[in-house]
Amino acid sequence: MNVPKPITSLQNDRIKAIRALEMRKERRETGLFVAEGAAILITAREHGALPQTLLYRAGGAETGAQQAIVAAALAAGAEVLEVTEAILAKLAAKDNPQSMLGVFRQRWSEPPAPKRLPGDAAWIALEEVRDPGNLGTIIRTAHAVGAGGLILVGKCCDPYARECVRATMGSIFAVPLVRMTGPAFLSWRQDWPGDVVGTHLESRQDFRRAAYRGPVLLLMGSEGPGLSEDLARICSRLVRIPMMPGIDSLNLAVATALALYQIRGASLKV
Ligand SMILES: C[S@@+](CC[C@H](N)C(=O)[O-])C[C@H]1O[C@@H](n2cnc3c(N)ncnc32)[C@H](O)[C@@H]1O
Repeated sequence: MNVPKPITSLQNDRIKAIRALEMRKERRETGLFVAEGAAILITAREHGALPQTLLYRAGGAETGAQQAIVAAALAAGAEVLEVTEAILAKLAAKDNPQSMLGVFRQRWSEPPAPKRLPGDAAWIALEEVRDPGNLGTIIRTAHAVGAGGLILVGKCCDPYARECVRATMGSIFAVPLVRMTGPAFLSWRQDWPGDVVGTHLESRQDFRRAAYRGPVLLLMGSEGPGLSEDLARICSRLVRIPMMPGIDSLNLAVATALALYQIRGASLKV
């Protein structure tokens, strides 16, 4: 079993390497990311994800749950580093200091085989999503409704960015994430056996009145331009969420949540 090594210097190479994961380029090259806070680390463990490196504030593993996280990481042979409060403050979000954080390997899934999906499955495809807060909220909602997973189409923001990971509240470890280029997505969609539902401001179909044929693939447009013509064209139906006059559109994450609950809501029991 490893023994925790206390670190006191910000110049320590391991600390510098973990700080570098704030940059997208570094995350892409290493395939790693940081998740902050005991609550997210507990959810990670529930989904079978153990950190490669676990950092905690000296004296910070106070509760039974926190001690269990440290023990599990040690038992799995992870690097476990005890650090000072100053170091943790540099590594964690300024407005949300945490007593522990983990460095994890990113998980990317292959696109599912559409014809093998159960009839009540729902997948979400996001076209060029830009805002990590929106993306994290959508991942959390996808988890809540039991969606099969999320496909990031084209140039999207990084789901493993700090703001996104934080907004997922741990669901980043539960929801399969797939990346596809636009052309690859268009070709893969051809095998989709159920409805491909695009949400579109110009549709006249009220999303509450449509009869969705499962499995459903829900397509959401980007925050700025909305759903591109290429993607709108391959939808089997376009739906609109009604709004009062004078409102341009809903926030992407809110629109996704409304559509998902309409599509999947009947399968969820309290
Ligand atoms: C902020 S909106 C984009 C607005 C963009 N200016 C447009 O014209 O589509 C981001 C995405 O959320 C979804 N969305 C937002 N409000 C919607 C609504 N009322 N009905 C249907 N989809 C909506 C669509 O997928 C849209 O592409």
